[in-house]
Amino acid sequence: MKKIMLTGDRPTGRLHVGHYVGSLRRRVELQNTGDFDDIFIMIADAQALTDNADNPEKVRQNIIEVALDYLACGLDPEKSTLFIQSQVPELCELSFYYMNLVTVSRLQRNPTVKSEIQMRNFEASIPVGFFTYPISQAADITAFKATVVPVGEDQMPMLEQTKEIVHKFNSVYGETLVEPKILLPDNEACLRLPGTDGKAKMSKSLGNCIYLSEEPEDIKKKVFSMFTDPTHIRVEDPGRLEGNTVFTYLDAFCRPEYFAEFLPEYKDLDELKAHYKRGGLGDMKVKRFLNNVLQAELEPIRNRRKEFQKDIPAVYEILKKGSKKAEQVAAQTLKEVKAAMKIDYFSDEALIREQAEKFAEE
Ligand code: TRP
Repeated sequence: MKKIMLTGDRPTGRLHVGHYVGSLRRRVELQNTGDFDDIFIMIADAQALTDNADNPEKVRQNIIEVALDYLACGLDPEKSTLFIQSQVPELCELSFYYMNLVTVSRLQRNPTVKSEIQMRNFEASIPVGFFTYPISQAADITAFKATVVPVGEDQMPMLEQTKEIVHKFNSVYGETLVEPKILLPDNEACLRLPGTDGKAKMSKSLGNCIYLSEEPEDIKKKVFSMFTDPTHIRVEDPGRLEGNTVFTYLDAFCRPEYFAEFLPEYKDLDELKAHYKRGGLGDMKVKRFLNNVLQAELEPIRNRRKEFQKDIPAVYEILKKGSKKAEQVAAQTLKEVKAAMKIDYFSDEALIREQAEKFAEE
């Protein structure tokens, strides 16, 4: 069976370090293994509109931001197809047919939809499009016959829903769709990178994100104001690692070679952690190290982004070309779906012949 990867992001803002360790970094690594027959990376503008219907300009402006972040991280249009969801109308058609296979109560039980309804104060007035976005996400995934979907943990319920739709479709209409596998980050810190304030959710409105395009001075400011262990007051005090954002970020970003480069008096992260727990290691020292690590990680990304920013029309050209290719692939799947559902009247010569014979006998 072919190995096909599909994933994507809503264009509602620049991407941040949570996106990076949660999925982006992995995508680039997977892309560069050369193991995949095809890779599709989608800017999910139609999905972003399900809860931003009154703010299309925001979605429009952020397409390029996300595309630049993708390219800056190393997604390579020669190896991965970068495309815009709304430019592949086949996805809407697939969603429409999948809607027959999902109940209202099943959607109401989707934990992601549930928590997002709360977050957006949608309790009393959920737009139908928003309510059904898990179905459209199943269309995104199945249209490309994706076998692997690298996403954050929050997307797990979406993948479950997709698998259910695949099973239902295949059992009702015959084997047509491919079941995808979710690929989660293998490290706990990457699974749920907190905001710089220690809060679970990173969000623009809380001002607790570090963006991939963040300037060095701002990275530094954010690192030095990070939440640590509030009971670790004097350097001599023993410190706690649980809920300590600085250490969570080190778990997500630190590479062994950074010790030799920036903090040679420690062998590795375990040794640094042990000292912190024992007492005698100040927060400032750990923050200075984390700042060095983040600067080293983000500098090449920021620089590449600036290069791509110099030629915006070329970036749109990449998205246009990618959208065209994505549409061809989705159209093929849609054709198979319609044939399985017996709505392929004009291409089914047997149907026309049999009916001609039937009416001739009358
Ligand atoms: N729901 C994803 C997000 O919030 C974006 C997305 C849309 C997606 N369709 C997808 C991710 C299909 C993976 C596969 O960022």
